[in-house]
Amino acid sequence: MDDMVDRDLLRWYADVGVDCAIDETPHDRFAAPAPEPAPEPARPAAPAPAPAPAQVTTAATTADSADAARDTAAAAATLEALRASLDAFEGCALKRTATQLVFGDGDPDARVMFVGEAPGREEDRQGLPFVGRSGQLLERMLATIGLERSATYIANVVPWRPPGNRTPTPQETAACRPFLDRQIELVAPEVVVCLGGAAAKEMLATSEGILRLRGQWRTFATPTFETRAMATLHPAYLLRQPAQKRLAWRDMLTVKEALDRPPPKA
Ligand code: URA
Repeated sequence: MDDMVDRDLLRWYADVGVDCAIDETPHDRFAAPAPEPAPEPARPAAPAPAPAPAQVTTAATTADSADAARDTAAAAATLEALRASLDAFEGCALKRTATQLVFGDGDPDARVMFVGEAPGREEDRQGLPFVGRSGQLLERMLATIGLERSATYIANVVPWRPPGNRTPTPQETAACRPFLDRQIELVAPEVVVCLGGAAAKEMLATSEGILRLRGQWRTFATPTFETRAMATLHPAYLLRQPAQKRLAWRDMLTVKEALDRPPPKA
């Protein structure tokens, strides 16, 4: 490839959000697959092999690290302690490619908490959730119901930016989930709003599409905390599909109605 093509390709990568390399060696994803090896001649049936020790160890390690994450998160008595534990947590591979941790931001006593999918490039740079274009639109959405960002609490399902803004894998999401749950328990909001289909599917444990799910009250629960939760459209989607803003506006009005009701007695 000559220099010109290289530069164009790099510019195109940057425009679509690919701004870091995730491997040292290039892979030709368009190359024809390697031919299948010839089938081995049939052999007499052998007794089933015992499970390979390496696999057993990997499964145990994954379960152990999930337990460890749950115990570490549960032990945090404050948001500051939780942030410190998450900063020291090595159980999610996203930490290795992100610039920094993007912990939740806002009023620790907020009545409403918004949860997105994962930090993007600007969030990764600033270490704060929803500070890029999606964040600016989110702030305008809040303003439509008279809410300042500083009166809310905003977090993400995963607190590190996935390379190139890809969707977090189920393993990455599962590794970080105890920390999100604990964050919600510590803020203890009256209302949780899931921003977009990915956050809604994870938090509301459903496979329903966002266009069906949005605007409906569901329950978000951890073993020690329960609250009302609703999904709405992600601001990044609304930036691409501005005609759908009217649906998000309806959802915001439903959230406002819930917040206008007096908080339930303790
Ligand atoms: N999109 C998200 O889901 N979260 C952010 O923090 C920014 C963009």
